[in-house]
Amino acid sequence: MSLVAWSDTALSRRLGLRVPIVQAPMAGGPSTPRLAAAVTEAGGLGSVAGAPLAPGALRDAIREVRSLTDGPFAVNLFAPLPPPTWDRTDEWAEVTGAVVPDAPRLARFEDQLEVVVEQRVPVFSWTFGLPPLDGVDAFTIGTATTVEEALALEAGGAQAVVAQGYEAGGHRATFLGEVSQSLVGTLALVPQVVDAVSVPVLASGGIMDGRGIVAARALGAQGVQLGTAFLNTDEAGTSPQHRAALVQHTTVTRVLTGRAARAVRTSMVDRLEASGVEPPDYPLPRAYQAEPPMLAGQGGPMARSCPAGRLVGILAAEADAAVAGLV
Ligand SMILES: Cc1cc2nc3c(=O)[nH]c(=O)nc-3n(C[C@H](O)[C@H](O)[C@H](O)COP(=O)(O)O)c2cc1C
Repeated sequence: MSLVAWSDTALSRRLGLRVPIVQAPMAGGPSTPRLAAAVTEAGGLGSVAGAPLAPGALRDAIREVRSLTDGPFAVNLFAPLPPPTWDRTDEWAEVTGAVVPDAPRLARFEDQLEVVVEQRVPVFSWTFGLPPLDGVDAFTIGTATTVEEALALEAGGAQAVVAQGYEAGGHRATFLGEVSQSLVGTLALVPQVVDAVSVPVLASGGIMDGRGIVAARALGAQGVQLGTAFLNTDEAGTSPQHRAALVQHTTVTRVLTGRAARAVRTSMVDRLEASGVEPPDYPLPRAYQAEPPMLAGQGGPMARSCPAGRLVGILAAEADAAVAGLV
């Protein structure tokens, strides 16, 4: 019997991975340098969620990962968005019971990118668009929610594309067209993106175990990017409330952060949606001392609590078993 090695892809070879499993960057607490390093040490690709970090903190996070592993890792940023308008603050604060902060100082993409370039990180990934890539010599990975976005990323120089399905936890990457027109499930999105682009595709959204990984490989993806699956691992910085809420129903909503994101449907989401109040522009709601949004994907109930490196090993063993079960 000859088994196809699900783990041996051009992408895993290019990046030097034993398994083409990427730990999704998860801004807002869950991502930690220890989590990224643990995934890399286990043969996958850990990611640093750099978007909210000021340049100094980003540099420190990269150095911490490097102190824990010699392997490859990704640094993730958000493509620059139009500057938020500081209004509509009081109404939203009233419904959330949050304290209206002073206008926050937001990290500038250009300054963050300078750190990425200076630190010569192996892989640079992003979401929310197509950022300028001047001076970047890292392997580049952009995020798409439609075929059109995947083609735009490829044309703009992305060396691989994450196809983010509707199941995915966190913010929708959508940057062309309406979010409501870009809610394509992973099973439908991945093969369409694979057929459209010639760069490697990473499937993302709802992949929680080895069966999901093998399914993604069967759809033509050369790798997978998992977020929610890592939310409950020991090294993640996920809060206890967030971990406990992973079994709950999720929804895609703008009301928590000002931008469409899949999060646990808490009573706060119900209250904000019922109020009809427009949220402040993304990412301003992050600066309020409100209940932090619990971003999570539809696979939450399948998230396992264990060390992240062990999870990578379990996923690989499950994928082996899933392939064996097919032949
Ligand atoms: C808590 C959380 C935070 C996230 N933050 C980021 C981020 O900072 N950058 C990014 O590119 N994607 C982010 N994502 C989206 C992931 O990259 C990925 O698309 C998603 O986790 C895949 O779906 P899954 O959660 O079902 O595995 C986040 C996801 C979650 C769950």
